[in-house]
Amino acid sequence: MNVLNLAQMLEFQQRGDDRGHLVIVEGQQDIPFDIKRIFYIYGSDHDVVRGQHANRESEFVLINVAGTSKVKVKDGKGNEAIFSLTRPHTGIYLPKMIWKDMYDFSEDSVLLCLASTHYDPNEYIRDYDEFVKIINEQ
Ligand code: TYD
Repeated sequence: MNVLNLAQMLEFQQRGDDRGHLVIVEGQQDIPFDIKRIFYIYGSDHDVVRGQHANRESEFVLINVAGTSKVKVKDGKGNEAIFSLTRPHTGIYLPKMIWKDMYDFSEDSVLLCLASTHYDPNEYIRDYDEFVKIINEQ
């Protein structure tokens, strides 16, 4: 299956009552991996493009818990898709070996990233040409 078909929007349980909202994301239940790491990105200017890498091992779920942003994904074979993160109870699942750019951050954007791995800089592919080469060798 093409890696772009694996990237998909997820909708999480929202438990709202008169005290406010509560969104639940459980590893292996609401998302397809155990959560080993979280990080979050905020304070990125509107014209900043983050990400710009693929990961050999890591899978991610990205959630704009506040504000909005966009995620562009590429398969390295000329196909791409753009997802808008606009609600705190939706996220995007990103499989391994997919190129990703995060951009169009609103001023109040807080982008929560759930990862399937601990951080290992060696599993990051930060050169797009190298990514395309690896994809076409597979
Ligand atoms: P980077 O991967 O460039 O962030 P993004 O993909 O969101 O644009 O990471 C920025 C810096 O933070 C870089 O020096 C690596 C470091 N970093 C960690 O040490 N651990 C992590 O889990 C992540 C995501 C980044």
